[in-house]
Amino acid sequence: MTNKQPAAATPQTIVVVGTGYVGLPAALMLAKAGHKVVGVDINENLVRAINEGVMHIRESELQTLMDDPTVKANIHAQSTPCEGDVFIIAVPTPLDERKKIAEMVYVDDAVRSIIPFLRPGNLVIIESTIPPLTCREHITPMIEEATSLKVGETLYLAHCPERILPGDIFHEIVHNDRIIGGINEITQEKAAAIYASFVKGQLFKTDDITAELAKLMENSYRDVNIALANEFNAVAETLGIDGRGVIELANRHPRVNILMPGIGVGGHCIPIDPWFIKEIDPANSRLIFTSRLINDEMPHRIAAKIRHAVRGVSSPRIIALGAAYKPNTEDLRESPALEIVELLREDGYDVQHYDPLVEGMGYTSLLELARDADMLAILIAHDDIISELERSRSEVEQVMRTPIIYRY
Ligand SMILES: NC(=O)c1ccc[n+]([C@@H]2O[C@H](COP(=O)([O-])OP(=O)(O)OC[C@H]3O[C@@H](n4cnc5c(N)ncnc54)[C@H](O)[C@@H]3O)[C@@H](O)[C@H]2O)c1
Repeated sequence: MTNKQPAAATPQTIVVVGTGYVGLPAALMLAKAGHKVVGVDINENLVRAINEGVMHIRESELQTLMDDPTVKANIHAQSTPCEGDVFIIAVPTPLDERKKIAEMVYVDDAVRSIIPFLRPGNLVIIESTIPPLTCREHITPMIEEATSLKVGETLYLAHCPERILPGDIFHEIVHNDRIIGGINEITQEKAAAIYASFVKGQLFKTDDITAELAKLMENSYRDVNIALANEFNAVAETLGIDGRGVIELANRHPRVNILMPGIGVGGHCIPIDPWFIKEIDPANSRLIFTSRLINDEMPHRIAAKIRHAVRGVSSPRIIALGAAYKPNTEDLRESPALEIVELLREDGYDVQHYDPLVEGMGYTSLLELARDADMLAILIAHDDIISELERSRSEVEQVMRTPIIYRY
């Protein structure tokens, strides 16, 4: 591994395949840095929006970046790839829910779609999160079997995983350190030069397998630590004491930093990526596997708590608040809040679900939503919801039929 910082690449034509949360911000940054960028997406609405300068990710700085004249002049979107110097693949890698392995169909389709346009000297960068060995044992043969190119010699293949936090993408995409995993040294240099165009964090050059595993380790580390917090909290509950309070006290130890328990783990990465390690080495991922089970079980535990809280109320009317996978974002992906509501509805409970940050989820005001309700279940504590509750708690309780306010 080396982190000697390279010079930024001279302007190139960069084809970014997949213009979602990861691909579009990278495309905009590259365009701002002076590269000619072609954003490719199978979603025609997204292609149109990009060409019209409309940002689909709710972050004002990204809209500002999109409005920048240099960016506008350098970026264009279309639904199929074309020739270029560099190809960046940023398509989804969801979980195959039945087999609990990476669903590679989007990456495979994306790689197949660029194959007709690959020329000697091109660089292909996979930003999608992928199981270890994918570059060497899956993508390399796909390219070599379909072309006369030789990966590492006439075509350069790298895995440069992304670690942005939705909600703070604009800052993180520039300032986070980044792993540049190239199949050989020359690839690492070429890929690092591309990221040096806009990344101010350090670029760490390494091989592709190390990069693939490092990305998965990061999210597994988070998952295992959340599971530990959830387990501690459950033990505290058994003892009838306040789990969060115990954790806060334990964290007064100078070398302890336990996370806080939650209703489950959501988002595009943490609940999915640990499975990719288990996929590749099940014998050595027992802790990772157990943590996944603990966190996946949380929505069921929370649904059980809500059922218990309304057990004395006939035909309870439950208002669930917060649908995103974590506070202060509109991102619904893998959201445990959605799962909790679904579990309760399956059991026949009358649950209405609102989120002030999610378009179309009908949020008005706490006072209005709480009217004649038997329970307010705050599943995701967006700052807006909590400050509104703090301001108007007594009025809210007065308009409820049964004033049960639940917050995990
Ligand atoms: N969102 C995050 O915070 C985050 C962070 C780090 C890593 N990742 C990883 O990055 C990858 C992309 O995630 P994302 O959040 O940007 O997903 P996304 O769903 O927001 O965007 C992916 C885009 O790819 C498009 N697409 C799918 N197949 C395509 C194809 N064959 N050709 C062209 N476009 C295609 C989709 O229409 C979509 O717009 C995933 O592997 C994810 O795990 C995501």
